[in-house]
Amino acid sequence: MEKRTFLQTLLTMGLSTAFWQELSALDVSSEYKILSDIQDDEKFWKHIRSLYMLKEEYINLENGWYNFLPKPILKAYFEQVEKLNREATYYMRTRLFDDNIEIRKQLAQVVGCRYEELVITRNTTESIDTIIIGTDWKPGDEVIFNAQEYPAMIDMFKIQARRYGIVNKIISIPNNPKSDEEIVEIYRKAITPKTKMILISHMINITGQILPVKKICDMAREKGIFTIVDGAHAIAHIDFKISDLNCDVYASSLHKWLSVPLGAGLLYVRKDKIKDIWCLFGETGYPDDDIRKLNHTGTHPAHTVLTIPASIEFYQNIGAKRKENRLRYIQEYWTQKVRNLPNVILNTPEQSERACGIANVGIKHIKPADLAKILLEKYKIWTVAIEHPEVQGVRITPNVFTTTQELDRLVQAVIELSKT
Ligand SMILES: Cc1ncc(COP(=O)(O)O)c(C=O)c1O
Repeated sequence: MEKRTFLQTLLTMGLSTAFWQELSALDVSSEYKILSDIQDDEKFWKHIRSLYMLKEEYINLENGWYNFLPKPILKAYFEQVEKLNREATYYMRTRLFDDNIEIRKQLAQVVGCRYEELVITRNTTESIDTIIIGTDWKPGDEVIFNAQEYPAMIDMFKIQARRYGIVNKIISIPNNPKSDEEIVEIYRKAITPKTKMILISHMINITGQILPVKKICDMAREKGIFTIVDGAHAIAHIDFKISDLNCDVYASSLHKWLSVPLGAGLLYVRKDKIKDIWCLFGETGYPDDDIRKLNHTGTHPAHTVLTIPASIEFYQNIGAKRKENRLRYIQEYWTQKVRNLPNVILNTPEQSERACGIANVGIKHIKPADLAKILLEKYKIWTVAIEHPEVQGVRITPNVFTTTQELDRLVQAVIELSKT
């Protein structure tokens, strides 16, 4: 869209501020050109930071719920909102279907699977609960998952237990494992001839621990057990291919690390398993083995989906490996400084391959909710408290705009509070 038209549209919407002027003046392709020309790593990340509209009141270390949008994606999003409002149902009836296929293809390339095995949903919860509720359960079927899985999935299994008499085996995994085998063994020991399904997070949301999902999926496949990987935090955070994991289902929220506007997720189902899943919303227009039967979500904010290519472009201009390395670097930057202090509990593994950007820290004598409150009120650091039987602390989730100076403030706070 022409710059003038874009600004005029926003002005007629009554949104006349410096914010909109800044956004409309942004030349996205020249920003990306600058990025590709920068050699120095710190300068590169400084430029990335300049693409975000950050609040000065606090340091934002809570980017785990969702990643708010950098300016290029925000601009693309507003353009899509404007387009859908202008072209209205004409666009929906003549173009959306084809555009959706094209976007699925782009996304499939980023996440490493065939586009025929992937649909765009609204979030991880919808993706995984669709599979759980669409499974043909028999009384006595057993499911294995660990106690740190996301509550919406645990609850959905509990509902199936009430409805169909399935048995949920909830296992416990260590926050600081010594090896992959230690984890795999915990899952292996819980398997019986009745085990039908294993749910496992790729990256645990409350601690950031990365689990050896491929090894667990390999073991499960040998025994004919169906696997669901909850990858809410892994897509566009760590660099991998879904097809390498050997899972039956992979689910993620694209509004997290891919920085898609709120309300976008993905669901991957291995081709030969699609036919076994019942759909959640009525849809008989596709063959049983076509994944689109699981994607009849009704009318939804299509402009969110249409912004996915802009989010992919932003991600690719950073580079998948470069982003993963940066996020791990900044996590280790602060955790290494506090891990061995008296009264400090690091709920995130130390070995580099077992975590990336997210980590969780607790202080023995301070409740998580109090710790989060003190961090905000005294140190101006925004985090989230985690109160879980296995994890007590605050979750620290930096993002690509986070600086080491900001993390120095966190380190100083943890050191001071650990001595109180
Ligand atoms: C591991 C995990 N699974 C699922 C979800 C749910 O994501 P959404 O609310 O986008 O469905 C989250 C959200 O933080 C999560 O961390």
